[in-house]
Amino acid sequence: MDVPVTTTLEVRADGACGTIMLNRPDKLNPLGAVTLRELVAVARWFDGQPQVKVVVIGGHGRAFSAGADLAAFTEVDTDTAALRAAADAGRQMAEAIEAMAAVTVARIHGYCVGGAVVLAAACDLRVAAETARFSIPEVDLGIPLAWGGIPRLVREVGPALTKELVLTCRPFDAAEAKAAGFLNRVAPAGELDAAVEELTAALVTKSALTLSATKRHTNAVSAGMVDPGRAWNDADSLLAAMYDTESRRAATQYLANRAAGTTR
Ligand code: COA
Repeated sequence: MDVPVTTTLEVRADGACGTIMLNRPDKLNPLGAVTLRELVAVARWFDGQPQVKVVVIGGHGRAFSAGADLAAFTEVDTDTAALRAAADAGRQMAEAIEAMAAVTVARIHGYCVGGAVVLAAACDLRVAAETARFSIPEVDLGIPLAWGGIPRLVREVGPALTKELVLTCRPFDAAEAKAAGFLNRVAPAGELDAAVEELTAALVTKSALTLSATKRHTNAVSAGMVDPGRAWNDADSLLAAMYDTESRRAATQYLANRAAGTTR
C-alpha cells in the first residue's frame, strides 16, 4: 500500500496511525487548488486503508496553514464556470476530510487562518499549541466565509461567536478557542507532539468498529442540528463577491495592506 504521490502534502501510514502534513512551509502551507485536490485524494486513499484508525493533520514549518492561497485573489478569471469550480474546491476538501473513516486529529501550531480554520473544523478532534494564532479574515478580504465554514463553526462554537469572529475578523488565541469548545486540548508549544501522540495512542487501542460507530453517530446527530450540506452553494456566494464592487475594493485594500505589512 504505497502512499499517494502528492506535491504539496507529506503523507504517511504507520500501522494504525496516519499523518497528512501540509508541506509548503515557505508559503505557510496555503490551501491552493492543488493542495485542496490532493487533500481530497489522500482522504479517499486513507479510506482504503482499514488498518488506519487515526489520521493526524498538521503543517510543516512555522504554521498549520495561512488559509486560502492569496495568489487566487489577485486575478479574477473571466470563465465563471472555472471560477465556480475553483471556489467549490474548499467545500469538497472539507467534506472529504469530514467523511474520512478514520478519526482525524488536527495538530495546530503557529497561524491557522481562514480556510485552515475550516480544515481544522472538519477534523474530529483538535489539539493546538498554546502559541497558535487563529483568525478568519475573509470578510476583510471582501468574501464571505465559504467552504462550509459557517455551519462547521456554528456546530463547534455556536452562532453568536461564529458571527463575531467571522464578521469582525479579529484574531483569537488558543486559550479562547479552547474555552469556546473549538479545541479539545492545548499544550505548551514544545509539548504539542507529545499531546497529539498521547491522544492518538489512546484512540488506537479502541476497536475500529466502535471508533467509527461513535464518529458517524456523532456526525449524524450534529448534522441534524447544523447541516453543512447547505454549503453546496457557498461557491455561488464567493462568486457574487468576486463581482461585487465594494467587496472587490475591500480585497484590493486587504492585499495592499498585506503588501505594506499592515495587516498583522
Ligand atoms: N497564500 C499564499 N501565500 C501566503 C499566504 C497565503 N494565504 N500566507 C502567507 N503566504 C506567503 C507570504 O506571501 C510569504 O511568501 P514570500 O516569503 O515569498 O513573500 C510567506 O508565505 C511568509 O508569509 P509572511 O506574510 O511573510 O509571514 P508573517 O509571519 O509575516 O505573517 C501571516 C503571517 C499569516 C499573518 C500572514 O502571512 C498573512 O496574513 N497571510 C495571509 C492570510 C490570509 O489572508 N489568508 C487567506 C484567508 S481567506
